[in-house]
Amino acid sequence: MATVLIVEDESKLRRLLELNLSEDGFQTVSAPDAETGLDHLRQSQVDLVLTDLKLPGMGGLDFLHAVKRQNASLPVVVMTAFGTVETAVEAMKAGASDYVLKPFSLAEMRMVVHKELDVRRLKEENRTLREALGQRYEYPNIVARSAKMQEVLAIVERIAPTQSTVLIGGESGVGKDLIARAIHQKSRRSSGPFIKINSTAIPENLLESELFGYEKGAFTGAAASKPGKFELADKGTLFLDEIGDVPAATQVKLLRVLQEREFERLGGTRTIKVDVRLVAATNRDLRAALEEGTFREDLYYRLNVVPIDIPPLREHKEDIPDLVKLFLARFSQQSGKQITGLAPAAMDMLMAFHWPGNVRELENIIERAVALAEGPVLQPSDIHLDTERRSRAATSDTAPFLPEGQTIEQWEDEMIREALRRANGNKSQAARLLGLSRNALRYRLSKIGIADEPEKPE
Ligand SMILES: Nc1ncnc2c1ncn2[C@@H]1O[C@H](COP(=O)(O)OP(=O)(O)OP(=O)(O)O)[C@@H](O)[C@H]1O
Ligand SMILES: [Mg+2]
Repeated sequence: MATVLIVEDESKLRRLLELNLSEDGFQTVSAPDAETGLDHLRQSQVDLVLTDLKLPGMGGLDFLHAVKRQNASLPVVVMTAFGTVETAVEAMKAGASDYVLKPFSLAEMRMVVHKELDVRRLKEENRTLREALGQRYEYPNIVARSAKMQEVLAIVERIAPTQSTVLIGGESGVGKDLIARAIHQKSRRSSGPFIKINSTAIPENLLESELFGYEKGAFTGAAASKPGKFELADKGTLFLDEIGDVPAATQVKLLRVLQEREFERLGGTRTIKVDVRLVAATNRDLRAALEEGTFREDLYYRLNVVPIDIPPLREHKEDIPDLVKLFLARFSQQSGKQITGLAPAAMDMLMAFHWPGNVRELENIIERAVALAEGPVLQPSDIHLDTERRSRAATSDTAPFLPEGQTIEQWEDEMIREALRRANGNKSQAARLLGLSRNALRYRLSKIGIADEPEKPE
């Protein structure tokens, strides 16, 4: 509720103003003269001053100056007698926000007060917004000069101290790992473990035992019992990379851990409770996987409590110079070479590139350039961009297209069969060749009627 300070020596008018403003839902404080008004200002929180210009003792204009000295942004509306418009103008010059000429209608006075308070609220909102945007989040090892990366860090800052599950999305090489670690480091769990598990790097039939552990004799070869990653991550953070590749059976078990925070080891009967914060990452569109039915909707919503989407590098190129500086320092030190910088033409090349492999690609290119460099400054000839990928991506009439007469489905079938052939039937490898998750491949295989028999570990 906003508070209006009324300074008016005529007691009847003062009372009328008080009544009308409190009817409008304002709190009011009143003073019969400027001196008392200033006392009120010092003692209470006031949002607007409504003052007569003709006051006994200290005049209205002097009062206005005194108010503005105390709080320049406080709106002051002056009331002045008809025929003294000049004083009103003078008051406006001195910083009054508006004036009403006496005798005024109460409706007019109310309208002016409402308008001024609205303006003040808007200004305040703008200021907080500016401050929020102007605030820079600094993380060692993370370059984030761009507004887009600052937004990512602002979310990290906000969610890190909470227990919420986080789902990090973004193309390959955008920094999902880096952000997952930052979340852990900024959390109250930072002294606990950060455990990472990558579901594509682990053969499907071993993923569950890796996640949940197993008891001795749970399967052939389980000679001793072993805790899984969930147990190892107790009191810390579990980073589940490539969550989109987790097979359906394991998805069910993950869902249970997320809901109940408990599970059993494979072949075990004892229920294990853990205190783990889960951070998951994916470089695919999980919503598409939901539609295909390869990813459980309930699990998706459990995971997607707080989504963080890291933009591709081509959408925050203003970070390239700082990234280059960081990588130059890293690789000069590692190689023992004294590389001091980059020729402007070399920087231009980096700025013009579209970076399909994102920050990781930039890092690799700088590493290679440092290795090749002969002088202290990297030259365009040291920079080897994968421009072939760029021209492949470019659309032109000569770019490859579907073979004559083939539908996209037929072509897809052919590509899948070809990938399986090249991978000697290994579906994980075929999926990698196609840039698909194993689940997505499995779905497509079932569509074209190729049996999905369980596969051998790689
Ligand atoms: N904003 C950044 N500032 C500094 N280094 C970064 C930034 N973003 C990414 N990197 C670096 O780029 C490399 C790739 O990042 P990271 O491994 O986190 O990507 P990713 O999204 O997990 O990739 P993938 O999808 O392939 O797993 C790492 O060496 C990382 O340190
Ligand atoms: Mg990663």
